[in-house]
Amino acid sequence: MKVQLAIAIVTIALTACMKNNSSNTKSTAAPFATEVDSLLSLMTLEEKAGQLNLYAGSWEFTGPVPKDANNQQKLENIKSGRVGAMLNVITTEGTREAQKLAVENSRLGIPLLFGYDVIHGYKTMMPIPLGQAASWDAEVARSGAQVAAKEASASGINWTFAPMMDIARDARWGRMMESPGEDPYLASYLSKAWIEGFQGNNLSDEATIAACAKHFAAYGFAEAGRDYNTVDISMQTLYNMVLPPFKAASEAGVASFMNSFNEIGGVPANGSELLQRELLKGAWNYQNGFVVSDWGSIGEMITHGFAADTLEAGYKALTAGSDMDMEAHVYENSIEELVSTGKISEEILNDAVRRVLTIKFQLGLFENPYRYSDTTREKADLLTEENLKVAREAARKSIVLLKNENNLLPLNKEGQSIAVIGSLAADKDVPLGSWRAQANEGSAVSVLEGIQGAVSNKSDVSFAQGYTLTTGRRKFVYELEFVEGDQSGFDEAIQLAKKVDVVVLALGEDCWQSGEGRSQTDIGLKGDQMDLMYEILKVNKNIVVTLMNGRSLAIPELDENIPAILEVWHLGSEAGNAIADVLFGDYNPSGKLPVSFPRNVGQCPIYYNHKNGGRPATNPHDAGMVFWSHYTDSPNTPLYPFGYGLSYTTFEYSDLSLSSSEMNQAGEIVASIKVKNTGKVGGQETVQLYIRDYVGSVTRPVKELKGFEKITLKPGEEKVVQFTINNETLSYYRADLSFGSEPGQFALMIGGNSQKILTTDFRLVD
Ligand code: NOJ
Repeated sequence: MKVQLAIAIVTIALTACMKNNSSNTKSTAAPFATEVDSLLSLMTLEEKAGQLNLYAGSWEFTGPVPKDANNQQKLENIKSGRVGAMLNVITTEGTREAQKLAVENSRLGIPLLFGYDVIHGYKTMMPIPLGQAASWDAEVARSGAQVAAKEASASGINWTFAPMMDIARDARWGRMMESPGEDPYLASYLSKAWIEGFQGNNLSDEATIAACAKHFAAYGFAEAGRDYNTVDISMQTLYNMVLPPFKAASEAGVASFMNSFNEIGGVPANGSELLQRELLKGAWNYQNGFVVSDWGSIGEMITHGFAADTLEAGYKALTAGSDMDMEAHVYENSIEELVSTGKISEEILNDAVRRVLTIKFQLGLFENPYRYSDTTREKADLLTEENLKVAREAARKSIVLLKNENNLLPLNKEGQSIAVIGSLAADKDVPLGSWRAQANEGSAVSVLEGIQGAVSNKSDVSFAQGYTLTTGRRKFVYELEFVEGDQSGFDEAIQLAKKVDVVVLALGEDCWQSGEGRSQTDIGLKGDQMDLMYEILKVNKNIVVTLMNGRSLAIPELDENIPAILEVWHLGSEAGNAIADVLFGDYNPSGKLPVSFPRNVGQCPIYYNHKNGGRPATNPHDAGMVFWSHYTDSPNTPLYPFGYGLSYTTFEYSDLSLSSSEMNQAGEIVASIKVKNTGKVGGQETVQLYIRDYVGSVTRPVKELKGFEKITLKPGEEKVVQFTINNETLSYYRADLSFGSEPGQFALMIGGNSQKILTTDFRLVD
């Protein structure tokens, strides 16, 4: 019997390969439908339920460790076909071993998926996603994901839990580092590119892996920025701000979705029929991929108070459309009973299983279950020169110049003495960032190394540690301990600063200050960093701060006192080289902030695309009156706005004009603007288009990004940039949640950031 079944599977697989050689997830006809259905018809209830279980490997935990973890039992379950996928099983050897258990022992030999958090690289680290977002460049996202896929797939992984496309408005939330920022247009643009990079055109290509759009949905709106906290937002915010990147991901053919830990309006995402059945699998017609839960989250519906027990949690999650259970062990303890007693129809179960099998066929796992576990590739494809080149290019494009008084930057490679100060400057680990997959500890190029490598004479560069940020190396699940009050390194740093022409002061956050479970109420600089800055200022005012961080920070004192500031995030393997490229002007900085930088934590959440309200502080009002929406101790505006970023040259915007001041819903308007490079060096500018709908059936934000174009201009050169506005540009999810536009007056704004813009009006008529 077993042999016959095995032959059946092989036949299915071969036919599948012949028929679907070039199939990709974007095709509208269900790929491998015949093969999936024939396999499904052979499966027992137990085997079907088994495909929906995602187990963690035993050596790396990225969630709470299950107390009853019984590895032996896990292995037995794989052998008996009760497991569909594994996460955190790594290396070709590890994945081969686990795959063998499934393929050679289970009745039908269905191969496993191997999932892993390949977030911004596998061995070669790209900038953290928030940093990549600052490039506003799809090529940065795409090529970085391509390298990550190539490396991970060479090491046995065939499924990544990325990209994360949660909108992040609150810097207290540790996962801002993993997000594309606060804007849904930019987030959709980048998420699409990340998916293309991971998946390529054909999932069965061995250098591509299945992607996962997460976290569905609204995880970034956790109250008070505290991870895993309750989310309670309006339908309009959900539809207009949160969901657009997910819809774009579905349209891009992403292989899977991961739902989120949070509840929204009283319903945990796992149990949300609205999100999963009505929207994703209904209105968006997402048919060829599956929805995986987050770690343990199906079981957490009980803790939320949404399900009384395992059986109810299993029922609610599966009927709502959660297809796979990550480490909650709810499905393995409920599905068979729920289906055999008729509480859940077998068709619901079949639908979930079909989705999982479809992706396995698309990945080519039935053709060769070990195709991603290739020792030769694992040796050849990781951390190559070519991959590092991509990382350096991505890193320099992600840097944002926040301030450059009196053109202190760029520095000279010769004839200028430089003191590099701060423990973060010599750190070879922090730049790798949080969520770093299999990066080798301490493998990044440090700021100091980058600078030393760039100058003509090494003796022009000296180093002093100054402050110590944390007590020592820590592993990713442990809390950090900050050093405070140890100023024993100050003197050496101050003496050095006295002697040199310029100080490069590295300040910022440790990489483990951001990431999952790492929310903070203080978003300033920890430890003794600010004290050191003030001490150095007393002896040398020529300070360039390189700011390394995983979230937007509140740094008003830096802005007030320091002449030049470079936002360098956690830039990955090539951090130091990329930073040196910018410091010395080999690359003219072109990054733009994907999030607003607050003046203080009290402004959080702060974001540019907010509503006007009835009493905006911008309205003319009687001086001295307090009855306006404002703070009595802080301006409303951010320190640095969304879209902001300087260059070593300057750009002048003029001559904003429209092809017409009126359009109807079938028509369009072309907006033109002249941009001139008014400085002395060539540079790249990101020209940004914002729209405001003055009056709507529900109120609309004061501005929303609707397009952007990156242009490169030589000194003195000018270009006319054009944007086409059509009905889609003006449409949104209205009061009744239908998508469309509403006639009336609109503002059109174009500029180099969300605050410095030229504005004109036009009308949409019936
Ligand atoms: C929990 C995180 O929220 C999710 O993003 C990640 O993919 C899983 N753990 C697996 O590590």
